[in-house]
Amino acid sequence: MEVREVPVPEPDKGEVLVKMAYAPLNPSDINRLKSIGEDELAYFIPGLEGSGIVVRAGKGILPAYMKGKRVACNAAYSYSGTWAEYMVTKASRCFPLPGNISDEQGAMLFVNPMTALAFRNIAVHEKHKAVISQAAGSALGQMVLQLLQKEKITVINLVRSDEQEKRLKSLSGGIVINTNNPDCYSILREVIHAFSPTLFLDPVGGEMHDVILSLMPENSKSIIYGTLSGEKLEINPRTLIAANKTITGFFLGHFLQQQNGVQLLRMVLEARRFLSREHTIQVREHVPLEKVQDAIQRYMQNMSAGKFLVALHPDN
Ligand SMILES: NC(=O)c1ccc[n+]([C@@H]2O[C@H](COP(=O)([O-])OP(=O)(O)OC[C@H]3O[C@@H](n4cnc5c(N)ncnc54)[C@H](OP(=O)(O)O)[C@@H]3O)[C@@H](O)[C@H]2O)c1
Repeated sequence: MEVREVPVPEPDKGEVLVKMAYAPLNPSDINRLKSIGEDELAYFIPGLEGSGIVVRAGKGILPAYMKGKRVACNAAYSYSGTWAEYMVTKASRCFPLPGNISDEQGAMLFVNPMTALAFRNIAVHEKHKAVISQAAGSALGQMVLQLLQKEKITVINLVRSDEQEKRLKSLSGGIVINTNNPDCYSILREVIHAFSPTLFLDPVGGEMHDVILSLMPENSKSIIYGTLSGEKLEINPRTLIAANKTITGFFLGHFLQQQNGVQLLRMVLEARRFLSREHTIQVREHVPLEKVQDAIQRYMQNMSAGKFLVALHPDN
């Protein structure tokens, strides 16, 4: 990656120009960086979500409405990402921020809060009474925990360090299991027996997925939504056949496409309310564009320590 001076892009019909304030480093950004095609290299600007002020509007009612507003926004084009001083995006990908959400928190309004709300909706709609959440110390895992507890759904949180186990226990007072504990599976077996979780949310994959799903009751379902282990998902067919279990993938982009306009608006409003009143995403450090490469290395070494925010203007 390199920092380059490029012309400020012009918004076309239906688009706006956002003067960016902050953008987080998320695992989805790192996955995207790993998958850039040779042909994209010359123009690709990373960054999927962020916050800023709409400073110019293309033709259309929505762009005109957004002009001058402080917004949470996400990228619509690979040539104009959020890790830049200015980004052109569709006006429909911006959402005005109220005064009680800071630029920092607003920069993280979409990816994790909307995914956590989607999982809450799935858990409630499918009437799961207890859920297993893998990598539960993640920013997303903490939101899932808070939203499900509010619905009186039991959450069995899996983490991989003593530090995370302590931290999550103090935050939630709930069930937290350290997967690096040698007795992990016997503890998990007992907890599964006691609470009968029927939904497993997993961003890690690897062979543990099969072990956990096989311990769960008949008709259980798992959702794989990340590739944190970098390993293949190995499933014994008997796990699925014998007890009618299912595995599905989840990608927020697809989920949002399946929602109608009203459902979408309701979710964004709820994400906004969640961040303004109920939840604060932990921020580890602000970094300038020039230090992003180094920040990615440090983020990967300790992802639970909070989000790195790319600060996109000198005042930040
Ligand atoms: N599919 C979708 O639409 C969608 C949407 C949003 C998020 N996601 C996924 O959700 C996951 C969490 O995102 P986030 O932004 O909340 O992450 P985050 O706050 O950066 O935290 C990542 C967490 O994953 C843990 N972790 C990393 N590698 C692991 C491994 N091999 N085994 C177990 N735990 C591991 C880290 O623990 P340590 O501190 O111990 O490293 C940390 O707690 C990511 O995989 C992301 O891609 C997917």
